[in-house]
Order: sequence, then C-alpha cells, then structure tokens
Amino acid sequence: MKVKSIAIDGPAGAGKSTLARRLAEKLGYIYVDTGAIYRTVALKVLWEKADPADPAQVVPLLEGLEIHVGYEDGVQKMYLEGEDVSGAIRRHKVSGAASQVSAIPEVRSFLLEFQRKLARESSVVMDGRDIGTVVLPNADVKIFLTAAPEARARRRLLELEQRGEPADYESILRDIRARDYQDEHRPIAPLKQAADAVLLDTTRLNLDQSLDRLLSLVKEKIAL
Ligand code: DC
Repeated sequence: MKVKSIAIDGPAGAGKSTLARRLAEKLGYIYVDTGAIYRTVALKVLWEKADPADPAQVVPLLEGLEIHVGYEDGVQKMYLEGEDVSGAIRRHKVSGAASQVSAIPEVRSFLLEFQRKLARESSVVMDGRDIGTVVLPNADVKIFLTAAPEARARRRLLELEQRGEPADYESILRDIRARDYQDEHRPIAPLKQAADAVLLDTTRLNLDQSLDRLLSLVKEKIAL
C-alpha cells in the first residue's frame, strides 16, 4: 500500500504537536515532530558553545552530525550522538537557538532529505513550519493550524505550570511574538500557509474539538 502523508504547519503553541500526535495515533501513522529535529541541531550548537545565529560557526557542525529519530510506544525520541536528548531539547534556551539555526539555509537543506526519508518509509503525520510548502509539497492532506498569540501563551503557561517550571504570562507572550516574527520573516522557507492547505484556527476550540475537526478534514481527503 502506498504511504500517506499529512502535513501540519503553524506557529509555536497552536497545539500542533499534541494534535498531530493524537491524529497519528488514531490513523496508525507515525508522528514526526520536525521542530524536535531543529531543536536537536540547536542543542549540538549549544554543546559546542557556538553561536546559533552565526552560519560560519553552525555550518561546519553539520558535517558528521549524528542525529537519530526513534519511537518508544509511539512517542518520538531524539538522539544526539547516541544520547537521548528528548528532554534537553525542550529547554527554553534551546527554543530560541532552534529558531536561529532554522533560519540558516544549509541547516534547512541538510534536514530536508532527513525529513523526506522518514515520510518515504512510513505513513506520517508530520508537523513543522514548512512541511506543506517545502518538505512534502505532495502531502495527501495539508493543514495550517493557528491560534491567537494570547491563546497560545495561555496554553504554554499551563503546560509549564503542570511541569512545575516557573513562568510568567507576559514574558511567554513576548517570546511567542518574537518567535513568530523570526519564523515568518526569515528569507528561506518562512512560516506561511501553503496555497492548498486548510486553515484551522484553534483559538476557541479545545483539544477534542480540534481533533474532531482534523479527523473530518482528513476523512474528506483520504479514504480511510
Ligand atoms: O515547533 P518547535 O517550537 O519545536 O520548533 C522549533 C524551531 O524550529 C522553531 O522556531 C522553528 C523551527 N522549525 C522550522 O523552521 N521548520 C520546521 N519544519 C520545524 C521547526
């Protein structure tokens, strides 16, 4: 049977990863969180004490970079040089660095084939910023998932509080806005809705409602 692919793009905190993971579970597809892959590159840059904003320092690190994606009970794990870094890449410092390294063309082209290979091997729900526009332009379903920055900041705050990490709403909102700006205005593969993507705004939807909407969109496009 031919593999299928579902591309979900959108800004940070729109609920992409939770929804994409649950959608993949329902469909029996593999969930690929591409942000985690960029984060792993960023972590390597931080490990090396290099400047994530400086291509001259970042690009040489790509050669021989040892990144692996694995799955444990359907949960994506990231390995850097054999070490499980799935927790480490979620740190605040890594978020900013990931956004910076993701603006470097060589980083993007390095990861392009890596991501396409994953989608050739299995049916995937892949989430990111440029999946429908660049990575999988022939995806069977393309969704652009968004929500108001304030709603995204509230969700992020809740998530951090549940993890017992101190945080405040205003600084989260500021970070979200800065990251949106950076992701939308980079010259290469900026965050934007693919012409053939369906827009889903989750500002006023909870998780279950969003998932229902996603499932019906998928059912319209793929005969399940
Ligand atoms: O989704 P996330 O917050 O984990 O992503 C981390 C950073 O990686 C984000 O600032 C944008 C970048 N990214 C990207 O440029 N392209 C992707 N397909 C996924 C993430």
